[in-house]
Amino acid sequence: MIVCSCNVVSDGQVRACLSPGPACPRTPAQVYACLGCSPKCGRCARTIRGILDRALSEAHAACATTCGAACTLKAAPALPAEAA
Ligand code: FES
Repeated sequence: MIVCSCNVVSDGQVRACLSPGPACPRTPAQVYACLGCSPKCGRCARTIRGILDRALSEAHAACATTCGAACTLKAAPALPAEAA
């Protein structure tokens, strides 16, 4: 499903750029950069944030390693509603 009509980016493309580790995108802006595009109208930022949060929390829940505060799979803190 296309989640960003300005850049013609699908939810699958967003998920594909999320690889756990220090370089994993944590914000919609980092996802755009990972995909080689940039935000235009910004309407998709909330949807991309939702995909990010779900993917990172699922990866964090499935992780068998206890790394506490240093865990790179924790989702970024939620943005205030007006900033998302
Ligand atoms: S829909 Fe993604 S920038 Fe416009």
